Amino acid sequence: MRSSANTPNMARRIVILGVGGTIAASASSATKTHDYELTGTLDTVLAQVPQLGELARIGTEQVANVASHEVDNAVLLHLAKRVNEHLADPAVDGIVITHGTDTLEETAYFLHLVVKSDKPVVVTGAMRPSSALSADGPLNLYNAVRVAIHDGARGVGVLVVLDERVASARDVTKTHTSATDAFRALDSPELGALGGGKVLFAASPLRKHTRDTCFDLQAIQTLPQVDIVYGYQNGGTFFFKAAIEAGSRGIIFAATGNGSLSEAAKAGALMARERGIVFVRASRVAAGAVCECADDARYDTVAAGTLNPQKARVLTMLGLAHGMDTSALRHAFESY
Ligand code: SIN
Repeated sequence: MRSSANTPNMARRIVILGVGGTIAASASSATKTHDYELTGTLDTVLAQVPQLGELARIGTEQVANVASHEVDNAVLLHLAKRVNEHLADPAVDGIVITHGTDTLEETAYFLHLVVKSDKPVVVTGAMRPSSALSADGPLNLYNAVRVAIHDGARGVGVLVVLDERVASARDVTKTHTSATDAFRALDSPELGALGGGKVLFAASPLRKHTRDTCFDLQAIQTLPQVDIVYGYQNGGTFFFKAAIEAGSRGIIFAATGNGSLSEAAKAGALMARERGIVFVRASRVAAGAVCECADDARYDTVAAGTLNPQKARVLTMLGLAHGMDTSALRHAFESY
């Protein structure tokens, strides 16, 4: 396990980008951990953590201020652009992003694929509003900056830091609606942890990320529409039809089990193929891979491997934006 003392480094400059979320929210009482409003900004979050100034020189930018279920492709593209611009500045040593936890994993994985730098990028948030007893946001933010100034955070892609865990953006997912230890990597080891005044790195990501991906947003102004259809007993074809009629360029099927295609889903895949729409088999099951199978050749579908449906959507959007066909997307799902 690689470790380093939690050495403050005033030579380092970390830029914190605010996107919104519960970390900037408050409720009407300290015991209320639901029904809260996004009342604050990045500045009010920072005011709760004056100790950040003892770790590094801090710069800030409020990139957006929304609950993360309102993060759309325009916000994603703008955030990625600002991250790349800040990291291109030789005076900036790393980025920390405060973000709502609901879709944090999607934003983090998007950045993991499109950031063009080895400098640390750490995404954090909070499960409890800032007004709550034992609010977790301030310590999560402090720990995120501690990770961002650590040499072990360089060249490992985008990291997610919450509740003293350090995970790769590729693998981490939200596993609980309210617990502070909601973020877990279910199919691979977490990259590290914080404890005893130290950041402890224990593993490195194996898949390609950041500078080693083929994705480059410089010429990309918009992302194609990709939608997720959920699999369940007695499901029909109408959600596939609706997605196709609404202009989806890709459909992610959050299938049962190992990406099983029901008769309705097979019909959906055939309808998609006739219109040149990509159809990806992911799974509604929390852990394990969706393996390539004979149906992929029959219905021209793509297996999502160990990416969950929401991350399969992110990769499919980027693949389509870069002109990938089914075969190139299959390769992307194996590489990223
Ligand atoms: C959100 O995702 O913006 C709300 C929930 C949270 O941040 O925990």
